[in-house]
Amino acid sequence: MAEFRLKLRRYNPETGEAPYWQEHTVELEPHRSVLEGILQAKNTEDGSIGVRCSCKAAICGSCGVRVNGKPGLACHTHLEDALATAKDGETIVVEPMGNMPVIKDLIVDMDAVHWKKIQRVTPWLVNKEPIPEREYVVPRESMVDVTQSMACIQCGACVSDCLSMEADPLFVGPAALAKSYRFVGDPRDAMQEVRLKDLSEDPHGIYDCTHCFKCIEACPKGVAPMSQIMRLRRIAGNDHHIVDRNNGERHERAFVNLIRDHGLLWEAELLPRSLGGDSWFGKFHPAAGQELASSLPVIAKGLLRGKVSIGGALKPHKIPAEDLKQVQRIYETVEGREERVEFNLYISGKDEDLLPSSSEATEEASA
Ligand code: SF4
Ligand code: SF4
Ligand code: FES
Repeated sequence: MAEFRLKLRRYNPETGEAPYWQEHTVELEPHRSVLEGILQAKNTEDGSIGVRCSCKAAICGSCGVRVNGKPGLACHTHLEDALATAKDGETIVVEPMGNMPVIKDLIVDMDAVHWKKIQRVTPWLVNKEPIPEREYVVPRESMVDVTQSMACIQCGACVSDCLSMEADPLFVGPAALAKSYRFVGDPRDAMQEVRLKDLSEDPHGIYDCTHCFKCIEACPKGVAPMSQIMRLRRIAGNDHHIVDRNNGERHERAFVNLIRDHGLLWEAELLPRSLGGDSWFGKFHPAAGQELASSLPVIAKGLLRGKVSIGGALKPHKIPAEDLKQVQRIYETVEGREERVEFNLYISGKDEDLLPSSSEATEEASA
């Protein structure tokens, strides 16, 4: 047994009082969970502590909290591990998750944010017709591909720390978009293109993710929501050629092409390419002018604060020719593949495994 100091954030909106911190010392074995610590404090010191839990085994997803500032499951965080990340080395700080309103103490309103967003993405399979008399038979690989998103337990940890959602509360968000990939990637679903068009054209949809990796770090189940969002983008752009009204797809393409051409991101070229295409003529696309005009206040601020200079911004950003060749070789390898290869948690192996075996290669050569 060891003693652990827990500092809990308390808040009850019904009382009208401001949030406050409350400390408790609990006695438990170090491998016990933070949830068990909170429950001991609740059972022995203050029965009014609000915490949501059910399975205590990282299955139901109900005990999402922030421990020492990081979102996760209270029942899946050992006290000894939490102590190791304590900022002062001795106090485990537990708060409610972010991006969702607090109902009481450590309990957040999942209905108001998380579940509303899940409902937004039509979270069920829409059967392809004709429906077979018996079961659907689908390739094993395609089901393995969606297994990662199926591992989600709807705990909301990714939502809690999503930076885009903090800036734009209407963003559909990591958990709901991962849920959407669950059906987009399922060969039995009849709505792949409809779903992707909808989420591409929604200004708060798949192109609203800023690729910050926070949801990947937060997820206790390895769902990697950001990777699922990138898959949605690849299928929308590469397979269905969906050009969204928000310009997300072209912006992404401009980004990729700039790195291929220069080896570095050249911001001054990104805007015209995103709006008008890669050609020189594209720079005069009316939308590029409009966007440039709307960005002028930000550009002026950057100039005044010395963050950018006109010469520095306009001068092409390039890496040495030899290094650029190496970058371009990566593009050639990836783009030269006949099939797009998607890896997820449940698919392991090496790139070389994708190449034909030596006997296959010999057969091909002699054919
Ligand atoms: S990667 Fe995208 S979805 Fe994930 S937390 Fe960052 S902004 Fe949100
Ligand atoms: S994706 Fe991960 S973090 Fe997000 S709700 Fe699902 S299990 Fe929780
Ligand atoms: S209590 Fe079920 S996941 Fe923690």
